Amino acid sequence: MLDKVVLAYSGGLDTSVAIRWLKGRYNLEVITLTVDIGNVADLEAIRQKALHVGAIKALVVDAKESFINSFVFPALQADAVYEGQYPLATALGRPLIAQLLVETAKREGAAAVAHGCTGKGNDQVRFDVSVAALAPELKVIAPAREWKMTREQTIEYAQTHNIPIPITRASPYSIDENLWGRSIECGVLEDPWNEPPEDIFAWTKSPKETSNEPAYLEIGFDKGIPVSLDGEKLDGVTLVQRVHKLAGQHGIGRIDHVENRLVGIKSREIYEAPAAIVLLKAHQALESLVLAKEQLRFKAKVASEYADLIYNGLWFTGLRQDLAAYVESSQRYVAGTVRVKLFKGNCQVVGRKSPYSLYDYGLATYDKGDAFDQSASPGFIHIWGLPVRTQAKIQSPFHQKRNTKGQR
Ligand code: ARG
Repeated sequence: MLDKVVLAYSGGLDTSVAIRWLKGRYNLEVITLTVDIGNVADLEAIRQKALHVGAIKALVVDAKESFINSFVFPALQADAVYEGQYPLATALGRPLIAQLLVETAKREGAAAVAHGCTGKGNDQVRFDVSVAALAPELKVIAPAREWKMTREQTIEYAQTHNIPIPITRASPYSIDENLWGRSIECGVLEDPWNEPPEDIFAWTKSPKETSNEPAYLEIGFDKGIPVSLDGEKLDGVTLVQRVHKLAGQHGIGRIDHVENRLVGIKSREIYEAPAAIVLLKAHQALESLVLAKEQLRFKAKVASEYADLIYNGLWFTGLRQDLAAYVESSQRYVAGTVRVKLFKGNCQVVGRKSPYSLYDYGLATYDKGDAFDQSASPGFIHIWGLPVRTQAKIQSPFHQKRNTKGQR
């Protein structure tokens, strides 16, 4: 009996060619695994295609719920955004797919897992490192990294082996999508001077074509997790899908990012992430109401560490667990409602409230009812400014210049 390999299968050209290639090159029986994290249109057609191309078994798994609850929401609680721009949709999907590959390999008695990543990107790292963390004994094969075929040669290979070529091959773009966002690269986008052509966008309307009336949305949070829209309690997947749709209609979520890949390359990627943009903004607005200044500042540092770690494929590590524990603790009072206004490509927070709000009207107001004791300020300022006065008397460059008439 031949050894088996479980291949992460999207139904696209590369992974279809990989089914045949794995058989030819490694003499392995291929089981495909298609993971639905909000990206796949026709799962049954993908399954049939895998079998047609030569897989001995074609599995499909709906992982939308675990994706949102175990990967996306922890990242949202952390405010994890890579280099201040990319909400990490693709990067969050990879460790989950790797985990499911490992589980399937164990169940099916496979000796290896495989994925369709090339040798230039971040995704190969995320798959390989995640699999290594979960099952170091499993071999990982990345056909597209090994076969050294150009796009044209891959198409030729498909033609000689009777592998149906998706019509989408006409698209010069490489696209990855899931519930948290859509990543688009290649083609004319490789010149960072080129404005992204309108036809690459699938989830967001051009602000030119959006409604002239803004939409308002009230997002309810509990422990940093969005739980309701306009007062209606919703499960995570439904909530994200609804925000996605509404925000996309208002042209929100387009990101144009020249990013630094882990493998040392700068690359230009366009993202559409309507739900992520809105939910991250709302979440941060609520945090600014209920967290103390020092908590907010420290948490921003954690957010940037956390984002790097997700981007760099280190989800299944001790540090990720430790940061997650901090983030979870930081969210214990992040409950309340944020009101956002969606209009012409912009998401603006226009209101926020929480039973745990640290905003004190009596302290903040300039109207009557002012509870702030202004007579205490001079004493505070006297002490606060003490080291400044001390230093200024002895070292100030301003004094020095004046005293020495610029001779020193
Ligand atoms: N640059 C993003 C990342 O490293 C997305 C990668 C996949 N992009 C794509 N267009 N296929 O996470």
